[in-house]
Amino acid sequence: MAKENLDTSVALIVGVTGMVGLSLAEALKKPTTPGSPWRIYGMARRQLPAWFPSSLLDDFISADALDRKDTTKKLAPLASQVTHVFWVAIQVGETEEENITSNATMLTNVLQTLKSHPLSPLKHITLQTGTKHYLGPLFDPSLAGQLVHDHEPPFREDLPRLPYPNFYYALEDLVASYAPSVSYSVHRSSLIVGASTRSFYNILLSLSVYATICRYQGLPFRYPGNKFTWENFSDMSDANVLAEQHIWAATTDAAKNQAFNCTNGDVITWKSLWRVLCEIFGVEFVPFDENEKFDWVGFMKEKGKVWSEVVEKYGLVETKLEEVIPSLDSLPIVLSFGFQHVCSMNKSREFGFFGYANTLKSIPMWVQRLRAMKIIP
Ligand SMILES: *[C@@H]1O[C@H](CO)[C@@H](O)[C@H](O)[C@H]1NC(C)=O
Ligand SMILES: *[C@@H]1O[C@H](CO)[C@@H](O)[C@H](O)[C@H]1NC(C)=O
Ligand SMILES: *[C@@H]1O[C@H](CO)[C@@H](O)[C@H](O)[C@H]1NC(C)=O
Ligand SMILES: *[C@@H]1O[C@H](CO)[C@@H](O)[C@H](O)[C@H]1NC(C)=O
Ligand SMILES: *[C@@H]1O[C@H](CO)[C@@H](O)[C@H](O)[C@H]1NC(C)=O
Repeated sequence: MAKENLDTSVALIVGVTGMVGLSLAEALKKPTTPGSPWRIYGMARRQLPAWFPSSLLDDFISADALDRKDTTKKLAPLASQVTHVFWVAIQVGETEEENITSNATMLTNVLQTLKSHPLSPLKHITLQTGTKHYLGPLFDPSLAGQLVHDHEPPFREDLPRLPYPNFYYALEDLVASYAPSVSYSVHRSSLIVGASTRSFYNILLSLSVYATICRYQGLPFRYPGNKFTWENFSDMSDANVLAEQHIWAATTDAAKNQAFNCTNGDVITWKSLWRVLCEIFGVEFVPFDENEKFDWVGFMKEKGKVWSEVVEKYGLVETKLEEVIPSLDSLPIVLSFGFQHVCSMNKSREFGFFGYANTLKSIPMWVQRLRAMKIIP
């Protein structure tokens, strides 16, 4: 029994219904993946959505990690098996302080439950974070306009932390506190591109829903950002590349207790991406005009009924507009950055990770997935 545990890779993916969670489950299922064969447990707060292929998981655990009792009850039976935790969960609160408390509580509840078993074989924790590590809590309304971007892109992992509360720092410290008995790795993504209706920040789904509504109502598909991002470089993180990096770090000694950026490895301009989106969704390309103000949040707020009509007409998985775009404000913020959002993949490559994606090809691939999952028409 104990011996079997040593030879087996058992994953617990916390946040399995998000974009990276789905990609992780798919990647771990492949027989060629490092550490295979994996037994795969997926955890999320709510039940599995209709589009999630439950055959990817050996078992699904619906538990609220914020609730210590619920977490203990549901995870304790797995504590003697789980060798790797893939942490791709976030919960968004009203303030960053609240975020720190809730995220740290969730992670603590899960790790303490697993480690409380005397024979816990837990070896490694991967932690998904993002470039907010370098940018500060840019979506916190109470800090609007106050954040100073001291760090010049491309951002390096060894940059000092910023003097703002940031739940990423709290989580990094928390996983590090289990070393050396349990190793960890931190994965800092750019904008994540993947397929899910359960990710709080999901720029591709926001844009897909927006484009679908424009096409449905014959309205112009205007760019809700600024000239800087339209013309300058940005990077993105394909959920499959992120999954590959999590698994690489979980199974590679040299990657232990390290933080890595994780982006596709190329850069795009939003102008070029906009052309790709126009082609995929069959809407006309409207060049960005900085003299024309466009209140995208106001525009989308009115579209709840239209989206429900689209869902009904095309027989899609039942969703409400607030579900597919939980955070209307974040898209215009990201598209109005005044700095080049570009990460360095230097460190990853020097450590031996070579995963990549061609961003302008990855976008149509993920839109296909969203269509196949019947999330968009
Ligand atoms: C957890 O972290 C995410 C990522 O920044 C944040 O948006 C969210 O508010 C945090 N949730 C809690 C409950 O702290
Ligand atoms: C954390 O809190 C802020 C409010 O400051 C919220 O807007 C933000 O989206 C939260 N979550 C993350 C992951 O940043
Ligand atoms: C991530 O990218 C940023 C921007 O290029 C860079 O400053 C930072 O050092 C990188 N971090 C890591 C861990 O590679
Ligand atoms: C693109 O970036 C450069 C360097 O930051 C900046 O000087 C330039 O104004 C930007 N372009 C636009 C259209 O904003
Ligand atoms: C490249 O990676 C090394 C760490 O391996 C780091 O010291 C250097 O600053 C990186 N360069 C950039 C531009 O991120």
